[in-house]
Amino acid sequence: MRIAICPGSFDPITKGHVDIIKRAAGLFDKVIVLVLTNYNKHHTFSLEERKGLIEKATCDIENVTVDIYDGLLANYALNVGAKSIVKGLRAVSDFEYEFQMALTNKKLNPELETVFLTATSEYMYLSSSLVKQVAEFGGDISEFLPPQIVNDVMKKLCNKKIGG
Ligand code: PNS
Repeated sequence: MRIAICPGSFDPITKGHVDIIKRAAGLFDKVIVLVLTNYNKHHTFSLEERKGLIEKATCDIENVTVDIYDGLLANYALNVGAKSIVKGLRAVSDFEYEFQMALTNKKLNPELETVFLTATSEYMYLSSSLVKQVAEFGGDISEFLPPQIVNDVMKKLCNKKIGG
């Protein structure tokens, strides 16, 4: 069975992420969407909250499961027998960072290949941090998110603003 991992912070998952996950699900037998910690970022949603949002957003994709891991992606891949990582590339600016991560993961686990899918043009500009910024200033984020999670994300981001 060809297992791929779609790793990320997903803080929160956007329509752009769902597009990449769907396309990965068409290429592999099983896709694990893996919620990890990016130590360069401050996360708004907890690992469990992010997992719940992804489960809602991907519930109609048959061969997709969601998991959490607080450790190295390369080790997780080894544990579950996954040989591929699928990541989306939005622009040339993504490339350097993604290339660095792909090479690091290959060094840690030489069997692991990173496969890059180019973002669909309508989602090229989209990022989780942009969504959070728009929401925190009262803008409409419904266009950026899978419809199943718009209310959950709004609720969290509004509470956060009220709470400071
Ligand atoms: O969505 P992001 O923030 O670009 O995803 C980055 C992520 C979470 C995939 C990356 O930070 C990661 O793999 N974190 C887990 C720890 C790890 O394995 N680090 C070494 C990989 S270079």
